[in-house]
Amino acid sequence: MKTVLITGCSSGFGLEIASYFLQRDWQVIATMRTPRSDLLPDSPRLRILPLDVTSDTSIAAAIAEAGPIDVLVNNAGIGALAAVEAQPMAQVREIFDTNTLGSIAMTQAVIPQMRQRGAGVIVNVTSSVTLRSLPLLAVYTASKAAVNAFTESVALELASVGVQARLVLPGRAPQTRFAENARPRMEGAIPDAYGALAAEVFSNFQDHSQITHASDVAEAVWRAATEAGAPMRIAAGEDAVEWMRSASA
Ligand SMILES: NC(=O)c1ccc[n+]([C@@H]2O[C@H](COP(=O)([O-])OP(=O)(O)OC[C@H]3O[C@@H](n4cnc5c(N)ncnc54)[C@H](OP(=O)(O)O)[C@@H]3O)[C@@H](O)[C@H]2O)c1
Repeated sequence: MKTVLITGCSSGFGLEIASYFLQRDWQVIATMRTPRSDLLPDSPRLRILPLDVTSDTSIAAAIAEAGPIDVLVNNAGIGALAAVEAQPMAQVREIFDTNTLGSIAMTQAVIPQMRQRGAGVIVNVTSSVTLRSLPLLAVYTASKAAVNAFTESVALELASVGVQARLVLPGRAPQTRFAENARPRMEGAIPDAYGALAAEVFSNFQDHSQITHASDVAEAVWRAATEAGAPMRIAAGEDAVEWMRSASA
């Protein structure tokens, strides 16, 4: 029986990915900053471990406790809609620390065991905003584009030791806790000069004709984890698929 470890399982995509793999008889290690046992169904195949991807100590403890891992899903992430000039550097660092360095640190932590077994898959969840830029998301986009570049390069070195790395690029998913979790970071983030631009962005966000659902992301992660010939980049969600098609046209 194979084992998947997923970061950021307390809500949204991470929770759905954990549930999707559990339903398909995998052993699931659902990690959360604040572990909760009431979010996923009880199962002898489920373990919930504490993990903050910005802490080396927390990563080392989780990896030691987890044991052998066949698939790592770097899903934990944070964002903020903000004008760059109003975004404190502490926040810029926090976003990169979580999204970019967190994914790199977790990848580093699992490589030795995967290399020794000559098998394993690392799936990094980034975003369709790296395919088509949106205003007021420069720092978030940069943090995710760096993970795209990291993944595509590290995949080349890991292939030589039998390990794969893949990307899943979700579109906009208003049903997760992403926007709500971002809100405290957005205080004072839109100076008056960008008010009209922000109003336009927020108005476009009201259009729910093409959005991404957590189930789209779980399916894409499943493909990335289990399909031998899966592409390096898998778009997840109707909007992301459309953006990827137009980006490559
Ligand atoms: N929603 C979208 O529109 C969208 C679109 C494209 C890509 N994405 C990406 O998809 C991923 C999941 O987002 P989501 O929409 O499911 O948002 P979400 O509901 O806010 O989930 C994010 C998860 O990441 C966790 N997290 C945050 N900081 C962490 C840290 N330092 N260590 C460990 N876990 C941490 C959160 O845990 P806490 O509960 O402890 O905060 C939460 O479980 C993110 O990487 C996001 O950038 C989202």
